[in-house]
Amino acid sequence: MKKIFNNEINEKYINNTVELSGWVNRIRNLGGLIFIDLRDRTGIIQLVVNPESEFYEVASNLKNEYVITVSGKVVERITANEKIDTGKIEVIVEKLVVLNTSKEVPFLISDDVNALEETRLKYRYLDLRRNCLSNNIVLRHKITMSIRNYLDKLNFLEIETPMLCRSTPEGARDYLVPSRVFNGNFFALPQSPQIYKQLLMVGGYERYFQIAKCFRDEDLRADRQPEFTQVDIEMSFVDENDVLTLTEGLIANLFKEVRGIDIKLPLLRMKYDDAINMYGSDKPDLRFDMHINDITKLFNNTNCEFLKNTIDNNGIINAIVLRDLASKYSRKEIDKLTDYVKKYKASGLAYIKFDEEVSGSIVKSLSEDEISSIRNELAVNNNDIVFIISGDKKIVKTALGALRCKVARDNDLIKKGDYKLLWVTDFPCFEWSDEEQRFMACHHPFTSPNKESVDKLLTDKENCYSIAYDIVINGYEAGGGSIRIHDEEVQKKMFEALELSQSDIENKFGFFVEALKYGTPPHGGLALGLDRLTMLLAETENIKDVIAFPKTTSSSDLMSDAPNIVSERQLEELGIKIREGKDE
Ligand code: AMO
Repeated sequence: MKKIFNNEINEKYINNTVELSGWVNRIRNLGGLIFIDLRDRTGIIQLVVNPESEFYEVASNLKNEYVITVSGKVVERITANEKIDTGKIEVIVEKLVVLNTSKEVPFLISDDVNALEETRLKYRYLDLRRNCLSNNIVLRHKITMSIRNYLDKLNFLEIETPMLCRSTPEGARDYLVPSRVFNGNFFALPQSPQIYKQLLMVGGYERYFQIAKCFRDEDLRADRQPEFTQVDIEMSFVDENDVLTLTEGLIANLFKEVRGIDIKLPLLRMKYDDAINMYGSDKPDLRFDMHINDITKLFNNTNCEFLKNTIDNNGIINAIVLRDLASKYSRKEIDKLTDYVKKYKASGLAYIKFDEEVSGSIVKSLSEDEISSIRNELAVNNNDIVFIISGDKKIVKTALGALRCKVARDNDLIKKGDYKLLWVTDFPCFEWSDEEQRFMACHHPFTSPNKESVDKLLTDKENCYSIAYDIVINGYEAGGGSIRIHDEEVQKKMFEALELSQSDIENKFGFFVEALKYGTPPHGGLALGLDRLTMLLAETENIKDVIAFPKTTSSSDLMSDAPNIVSERQLEELGIKIREGKDE
């Protein structure tokens, strides 16, 4: 086994002999001296082979990615290389052994690699040798260790739950696993350990956590993977405040331990309705100070046609102000933003530029009074630009919410390395599904409604709120959970509100409902998205950068070429016949 890693070697080792092993990152022959950049997991160190060395010939024949082991004397470098941690020293090679050769690699192992992502995913084991990826993998390890230690100290037990489960409805599509023993029957891979962790509370374990693999067959985005990891937590004899306090303590400790960042506690708590109203999102990015303003009331007597229509149709008129940047926005730029908000179903984007003169798309259709009331209401200054969207509340909020993030990104209003964390609380219990023509659970059906909502579950679903919370970091949902229902009567009412029949309940989660009847303690918890947390701490926007072997956006593995066709014999054993024309 290696006794020392490259990056452990510093000036203190000068004149000592060290033994190093790793990969040839780069090799240069300068005026007879051969310089080898030796890479290992921790970084790069410079080796020097003199022309007189008996290993000169071997060194001359080295190629990139050969695996070597060397011993040699550590000396001070004449000119230090500031770019690498070991830049003040180098090792004069006294012995060199080639442990293995390498085929020519399809791309250079370097942080500024320009190979296509597909190529890098196909040769992921080579991509993993790059410093920026290995830094992320090390960071991820530190994060899980920090979390494990923190929870262990607070008497949490790490308990594994099954991967082969009964399919229970959780929101996304399940990955199914056919059974050989029971042909025609299927296991499902867990979308989360939700039911099991609640059963562990029924089982009396009181404080549980697990670094749990979850599987969801859903459309992927930059922050989603079909197979991802949660830090799953559940606690008995707790209320909402206990769960939030525990979690923010864990997160603050994590930020401090792995990145040296101080997070001020307690975190801000914002109700879901306020988040939607002010930021158009249940995961508001608070790194920049720009919120949505409701200016509907300023137009009660307007002559502006489309605003009048909005008011007549019970819609809303909302605005955001981009300060001191009006001059940056040409007609062309604004057309681009209009196309952008149309993706969020907004019918258009009105704007007013305030300066010595007031200009913009709707200025001519507004009265002077209306313009000055906008100026006052939004405390507008010269060179500010106001963007206005009107229409259906949900569309207006969502489109302006997206626009505020876009203009902030476009104008570099977000400081690099800044972190803004908050809790979003009081989520609605139900949301209307146009497709199903009924109210569906916003979370799962075991989420506890708040005290005031219990009596309204059957009569006023629009105004029922649950004890559910998400932790939001820089505009990402980093985790979420709830206090669960432990009262049988409330559970019955919830099922009724969701229009689940007795046989539906029996079919979908009968075993679980039965378990809850045997002395279930009050309990609640949450799950943190480990990949997303790592992404945030690694300051990358691509979830693949923090997973050793990620899937593509179409949920395939380019390296092993999975999913793949299996043999007829395997299918036969499982009692499965592939339907003709499935792919057509
Ligand atoms: P939820 O579905 O909100 O809650 O998931 C918890 C957290 O997991 C992360 N996450 C994902 N990360 C990457 N790829 C995905 N496809 C993906 N889906 C979710 C998010 C999210 O906040 N059982 C409940 C938790 C509970 O109530 O205790 C649950 O799974 O960061």
